[in-house]
Amino acid sequence: MTIRPIGPDEVSRFRTVLGHAFAFDPRPESEDRFRELYPLERTRCAFDGDRLVGTLACLELELTVPGGVVAAAGTTMVAVLPSHRRRGLLRRMMAAHLEDARERGEPLVALWASDSAIYGRFGFGMAAWSVRVQLDTRAASFHERSASPAQVDLLAADEAKPALSTVFDRARRERPGMFARSPEWWEEIRLRDDPDDREGATSYRYGVAQQDGHPTGYVQYRVKGDWDDHGRFTVKVQDAVALTPEAAAGLWRLLVGHDLAVMVEASNRPVDDHIFGLLAGPRRAAARMVDGLWVRILDLPAAFEARGYRTDGRVVLEVEDPLGLVEGSWSLEVDGGRATVSPTDEAPDLRLGVDDLAALYLGRADVDFLYTSGRVTGERRAWSNLVAMTGWVPEPWCQEVF
Ligand SMILES: CC(C)(COP(=O)(O)OP(=O)(O)OC[C@H]1O[C@@H](n2cnc3c(N)ncnc32)[C@H](O)[C@@H]1OP(=O)(O)O)[C@@H](O)C(=O)NCCC(=O)NCCS
Repeated sequence: MTIRPIGPDEVSRFRTVLGHAFAFDPRPESEDRFRELYPLERTRCAFDGDRLVGTLACLELELTVPGGVVAAAGTTMVAVLPSHRRRGLLRRMMAAHLEDARERGEPLVALWASDSAIYGRFGFGMAAWSVRVQLDTRAASFHERSASPAQVDLLAADEAKPALSTVFDRARRERPGMFARSPEWWEEIRLRDDPDDREGATSYRYGVAQQDGHPTGYVQYRVKGDWDDHGRFTVKVQDAVALTPEAAAGLWRLLVGHDLAVMVEASNRPVDDHIFGLLAGPRRAAARMVDGLWVRILDLPAAFEARGYRTDGRVVLEVEDPLGLVEGSWSLEVDGGRATVSPTDEAPDLRLGVDDLAALYLGRADVDFLYTSGRVTGERRAWSNLVAMTGWVPEPWCQEVF
């Protein structure tokens, strides 16, 4: 078995393996799109003789972290044929991929996991939640002090496009875990609207919020009608971004304003989404949390020096790393909101895994369970200081599964 990148004439075989793992039949017309979006030289694939049996691709992400933006490797399209599973191929492809990212000087790797039990063993930690919201529109009412809604207009895709990228690009710089979308990504992933992908719903609808002549928010959604069930429609939100409270209020009023809809569904929202503040009763937006973005730290000083901090302080960390990449004792000293990280021989204040450190990295607030479950050990006060230093507002979130 060998591990190597694929060449341009192997894209079709790559996608065949993916189709086996992720239960779809690859369409030949999507091959050019694949070549455009995923650098082939960064794939790391497993070959049994000359048969392609395992895949891994990489996106070059411009990832927002607290107070900054970092170049990160986005791990994607990880698959091993059922005929070759559990023989260590994922482990070998992942090792080659991490080594490549390290050589390129990327301090972080990020991914979405098909199952949350897979990636901890490689040092990934769950850095951002993803929340599925199902809002019962018949019971939804808005909080009396929520912002007055901005004007939202329904626009055709072409009319909406310029506003979408302007609004998105401002929003993604504010929230850790979001990544920049290239023009190709917008066209091929976000705006592409194949009838085969609609699952019985409409084409995309676009609502754009305007304030003082400028776009301040947008929502991209489909509506799925069910006349057999007396016209009980569902509004399915694909993408919703608001730069102001008024835009958020306007967008959600538009969504719940579909008279025949009984439900608004959004499959991936942040834990601190504006909808939970807009509603008079947050329970109306039934929320289910699952793990969202996972992060792996490859270069501890580079990663922690690239981000900002809420409070100053100093802590000595003894880090365990199952792959040994950042194993050892480190001093993390924050002064004026910026960190200096260096190896040290001092006695540690805290002992933790590199996956626990990754869970803190994007600024999650709900991390005390790492200590109370015994995964992180050491002085309570040192832990509280570390959480106060690394926590961030807003909460981390990644806008889409890649
Ligand atoms: C997940 C997948 C890529 C694993 O590939 P594989 O070659 O069988 O994995 P390996 O043999 O290298 O296993 C490496 C380790 O991960 C574990 N592992 C692999 N898949 C796992 C899973 N789905 N759940 C839990 N653990 C898993 C193995 O038990 C092994 O553990 P160990 O080294 O501690 O003994 C493969 O099963 C697959 O293609 N699944 C369907 C597609 C998918 O889920 N891809 C992941 C997308 S994010």
